Formats: sequence, C-alpha cells, structure tokens
Amino acid sequence: MRIIAHRGASAYAPENTVKAFELAVKMGAEDFEFDVHQTKDGILVVHHDFDLKRTAGKGVKIADHTYAELKKINVAAHFAKDPAFQCVPRLEEVLDVIGHPSRWLNFEVKNDDNIYSGIEEKVLAFLRSKPGLFEKSVVSSFDHGTLRRFRELAPELKLAYLGHNLKTVLLLPAIKKAKEVGAVNFHMNVRLAFKLNVAKLHKAGFRVCVYTVNTKKEALRMRDIGVDGIFSNHPDILGK
Ligand code: G3P
Ligand code: CA
Repeated sequence: MRIIAHRGASAYAPENTVKAFELAVKMGAEDFEFDVHQTKDGILVVHHDFDLKRTAGKGVKIADHTYAELKKINVAAHFAKDPAFQCVPRLEEVLDVIGHPSRWLNFEVKNDDNIYSGIEEKVLAFLRSKPGLFEKSVVSSFDHGTLRRFRELAPELKLAYLGHNLKTVLLLPAIKKAKEVGAVNFHMNVRLAFKLNVAKLHKAGFRVCVYTVNTKKEALRMRDIGVDGIFSNHPDILGK
C-alpha cells in the first residue's frame, strides 16, 4: 500500500510549501500529492484553497493576483508549530524538490467551474517538459469537466476520479463517470472506505486510494481492506 505524502509532510510543516515537500523527502516519502492552481499571470502554483484566507489570513484569490504579488505572502502563518515565512511555491519549485526522489505523483488540479481556463494545456506541457515525469504522474480533479478536457487533450494521460460529496449509494454512477473519462485510479474519502466499496472499485478495474488517513489504526484498516494507497499528512504513519 502506497503512503502518499498529502500536501507534503503536512502534519509537520506548513502544507503545500517547499518546506513540507523537503521534509517529506527527508522522511523517505516516494509518493506525493499536491494541489495545483494558476495565478493571474498564468503561473502554475501549489496551494490547497482558491484563496489565502485560511493559510495566510488574507482573502487574496490566487486567480486575481500575479505570482510576484502572491510570493510576498506568508502561507505558513496558520501553522502554529512553525509559522516562519513560506510562500506559495511555483509548481516548478515543488518538482525541483520531489521530482527526482518520487516514484508516483498526483497532481490534483483545482479548477472548479473552469476558473483557470486553459490550465489543462499548461499542466500537460509541464508534465512533458521533464524526462519521465509524464509516465509517473496521475492527474485528478474534483471538477469532471477538467478531467474530460485532460482526456481529450491527452489520451495516454493517467487520470484519477475524485468524487465530490460521494456516498455509497452514489458509487455506481461515480464508477460510470470515472470509466467515461478512462480513469485508472479512484480516489475516495475515508468515510466511504469499506471493504465492499473497495471490492466494487477493484472489480470495476480501478486502483483505489483513500484520503485523508492520519492515524496508524486507520492506515492498518485500509491495508486490511485492500486499499492501494492512502493520502496521509504523516508520511511516517506506519512507522509510528
Ligand atoms: O487528492 C486527495 C485529496 O487531497 C482530495 O481532497 O480537499 O484534501 O484536496 P483535498
Ligand atoms: Ca488535494
């Protein structure tokens, strides 16, 4: 079972910052997840939310600001254990840290309602800009239109379905949607991670990764029910 460093080693360092990814690498992580957005001047950056309210205490929207403006803001401000300055990193900077040591990468593209029109082309160009990167990457998005556009642009790209507000009763329609875009992975909330659901997804041909698993007990349960990977803020979750 893969232990996927979720937003880097985000239990120990401010999420989705260079520091969090450097620490995850130091802790031996080989599988990583991060969230991708686009600035007003078209730079791909890594951050979870569409604005910096939660991380920096500023209601600044990524889409409305240039990278030069965003990089002055401290997105570690929310992280009491280590609030020292960290800026929103460019995707390029994150890959400089994790690109080489990684064996599997999940680019989660945050593009609700196609707010970042054209982000799919930009992410694809990025994936093709470094040897071996495209092959070890999986792209996911909560926005189904985004997955569809990725599929149209790149038939060979590995996609992961991410179900928004998914419930067990909605699993079959979700499987249908995931198949429709040719997803190879199905990423699901831990609330739905039961043996029967995992078996259904395996039977449908998907690899199943579960988010977000932050206790050893839960991680062991995931392993028992046959989950292929867990997204965890603790890359050391099974060593603890
Ligand atoms: O990609 C898995 C997981 O990160 C999706 O949820 O809200 O943490 O981006 P979220
Ligand atoms: Ca994510």
